[in-house]
Amino acid sequence: MKYSTFPVQKITKSKLSSVNFDDLKFGRDFSDHMLLVEYKNGAWETPQILPYQPLEFSPAASVFHYGQAIFEGLKAHKNEAGEIFVFRADENLKRLNSSATRMCMPHIPKGIFLDGLKQLIELDREWIPVGPGMSLYLRPFMVADDPFLGVKPSGSYKFMIITSPSASYYTGAVKVKIETHYSRAAVGGIGAAKAAGNYAASLLPAKKAQEEGFDQLIWTDAQSHEFIEESGTMNLMIVKGNTLLTPPLEGKTILPGITRKSILQLAEEWGYEVIERRISVNELTEGIEDHSIDEVFGVGTAATIAPIAAIGFEEKLLKLTDFTQWKFSTKVKQYLEDLKTGKIADTHNWIEVL
Ligand code: COI
Repeated sequence: MKYSTFPVQKITKSKLSSVNFDDLKFGRDFSDHMLLVEYKNGAWETPQILPYQPLEFSPAASVFHYGQAIFEGLKAHKNEAGEIFVFRADENLKRLNSSATRMCMPHIPKGIFLDGLKQLIELDREWIPVGPGMSLYLRPFMVADDPFLGVKPSGSYKFMIITSPSASYYTGAVKVKIETHYSRAAVGGIGAAKAAGNYAASLLPAKKAQEEGFDQLIWTDAQSHEFIEESGTMNLMIVKGNTLLTPPLEGKTILPGITRKSILQLAEEWGYEVIERRISVNELTEGIEDHSIDEVFGVGTAATIAPIAAIGFEEKLLKLTDFTQWKFSTKVKQYLEDLKTGKIADTHNWIEVL
């Protein structure tokens, strides 16, 4: 695969042998190299590939004070034959640039994002773990760099990509609580942007839910808390017979997930009726109680599919059936896994092979 290459400063000694690949977690270990490019005077400079290292920032850098920070997440998979597969990276670039627009930050050119990713992946290809649920998690991100305390959009930025050999985000099914006090995002806010602040705001409510024995939350709309939105860091989907339901993106309170978009397309192709509409908390809880809902699961890059085992609402704990028997989520999880490791043909043109 041809792509532009950027200047590289290679590490002198790889850290690869210090990482236990039999005990990988999500996002804990980092590979040898990173990409860094600076935005100054209205233009991106030449990207550099450097040894993974701490960076220098002014303590006044505006990211530390006013939070202009956005990120993406995607994965590179490797099969036994050593081929590398990257899933829909162009969609991550689109979303990054849409987050940049909302956060008043400059767009990243395709050449920097896609070529930088490929060069970094090739350089650290030994870091890509092989096996079920394993991947090199790729984390592109941009932060504001002006050393200035006035509240205004920064004039300088750093865009970086770091990579992390990782296992799945969740293992097994999750227990979630319907959150009816805190909100993730309000209409007119930044919920549709992959902005660092959205994740910071989720920490306290998630911690409280964890103290009550849950893994994560189901967020509800900020205005009425009557409609479900996302689950933790994932989009939420429900299967009722032959229908796949998910909350809509129009209100811009929900992150437009790439796994979400792919699954909706696949479901339609497989003959499911796909409906994006508001789903009330009542519809969800009653549907679990009267067994009209067959499957409830979160979808996202890090987790792919996270089946929900139980949902806490008010004083009740509503239990779902055994997720290993679920037809749709089991099939789509397997399909995406097979696609991302080259086991089945890429009929949608979603995969780039390196
Ligand atoms: C993803 O699944 O894409 C995420 O954004 C999760 C990440 C924040 C760990």
